[in-house]
Amino acid sequence: MGDPLLLQSAAVVGTFDTPELHALINDMQDTMQHMNGAGIAAPQIGVSQRVVIFGVGRNPRYPDAEQVPYTVLINPVLTFVGDEMEDGWEGCLSVPGMRGIVPRYQRLHYKGFDQYGQVIDRLVSGFHARVVQHECDHLDGILYPMRIQDLRQFGYTDVLFPDSDIADD
Ligand code: NI
Repeated sequence: MGDPLLLQSAAVVGTFDTPELHALINDMQDTMQHMNGAGIAAPQIGVSQRVVIFGVGRNPRYPDAEQVPYTVLINPVLTFVGDEMEDGWEGCLSVPGMRGIVPRYQRLHYKGFDQYGQVIDRLVSGFHARVVQHECDHLDGILYPMRIQDLRQFGYTDVLFPDSDIADD
């Protein structure tokens, strides 16, 4: 956080299945795994393109979270379904060591492409919908602290959750 690149709108990917795109996704995957993230967006590793990856199996950062299938999502378009919002804790690999309560749409439809140009088209809710909204926000220069409505619910992970073994980012 603080890098101007994280505040930019990222560029649309024009060509799929290229060595550059596969290399970018490999780098993102390595970073996400190394940091135990639920997802990562290309601008977080210094590449201003509309590429996100996410997926949650069993994740020590989100021990109670629902599982989310591993997904590469390029040029995503989000459509919110209904106007029901839900509060939930979020962290971010670009804002290490912190958590905050962020309101997100409960249900959403997302479309985009994988790295081979195959269409991805899903209707999701809950934690899956939250992860997609968080990652896609990165493509529009939005970091989760900008969406926190009550800054009293924003703080250091080890202070907020002293008894938890959530990784310290
Ligand atoms: Ni993030």
